[in-house]
Amino acid sequence: MNPVYQKLELCYQSIRNKIPFTPKAALVLGSGLGALADELLQEGVIEYNEIEGFPISTVFGHKGRFVFSHIQDVPVVIMQGRVHYYEGYSITDVVLPIRLMGRMGAKLLFLTNASGGINHTYRAGDFMVITDHIASFVPNPLIGQNIDELGVRFPDMSHVYDPGLNGIIEREAGKLQIPLKKGVYIQLTGPSYETPAEIRMAGAMGADAVGMSTACEAIAAVHAGMKVCGISCITNLAAGISPKPLTHEEVKETADRVAPLFKSLIKASVAAMGDML
Ligand code: HPA
Repeated sequence: MNPVYQKLELCYQSIRNKIPFTPKAALVLGSGLGALADELLQEGVIEYNEIEGFPISTVFGHKGRFVFSHIQDVPVVIMQGRVHYYEGYSITDVVLPIRLMGRMGAKLLFLTNASGGINHTYRAGDFMVITDHIASFVPNPLIGQNIDELGVRFPDMSHVYDPGLNGIIEREAGKLQIPLKKGVYIQLTGPSYETPAEIRMAGAMGADAVGMSTACEAIAAVHAGMKVCGISCITNLAAGISPKPLTHEEVKETADRVAPLFKSLIKASVAAMGDML
């Protein structure tokens, strides 16, 4: 058996033996945005280090666990803390949790992240619904023998971020009177922040926001047949646009400041997506 698939099945069985919960939606909470999982009624929690073979996140401020809950009627599995490529894991390990949530039953993947604003109209604290991504600077997570059990060798990526789901996010943001940008996310490896020249390059390529996650996860999810959507929280202006040096503290401060709005937008959106599942 393909070793990547074997590891996935091992993790899946390890979780199944602990908690028999079938999520319909999967939610990934990015840097500083994990608090949503703390305010929901937690029907089950599994720390990543309890799962055999699971890659463990090490970044300060990232909790590492799956939380099982309901957002209104929708059964959800939430990743409170994700696995990043810059931590040194293989790209297949980075997307293993995404495949795992699909394996648990999730049909929908809702990605969130903290990102730097490249688009000159963006301000720290803005939210951006992701319309497309540039993943060309990180290894493709589908490299290697194809896992036929999950999906095809050459999956189409014309509509990674589902237009129907994006429409729901926009509608719910409107109801909550939360202004929403729309744009293209570029994933770079990190962990260093970008140089101003790299940001000019990314802008020239059509990127509106930059981060160190998300795009590879979206690719793995589309491959596995999940519907995907995502929101970036613009926590800072990207290098060269911001007049001051970038720090992880600023990223966390902004994420904390907008967390209440962010949480209400995500909850309303997931609840409204329930009918599509
Ligand atoms: N660059 C990359 N990743 C980030 C940034 C940034 O400016 N802000 C938050 N995550």
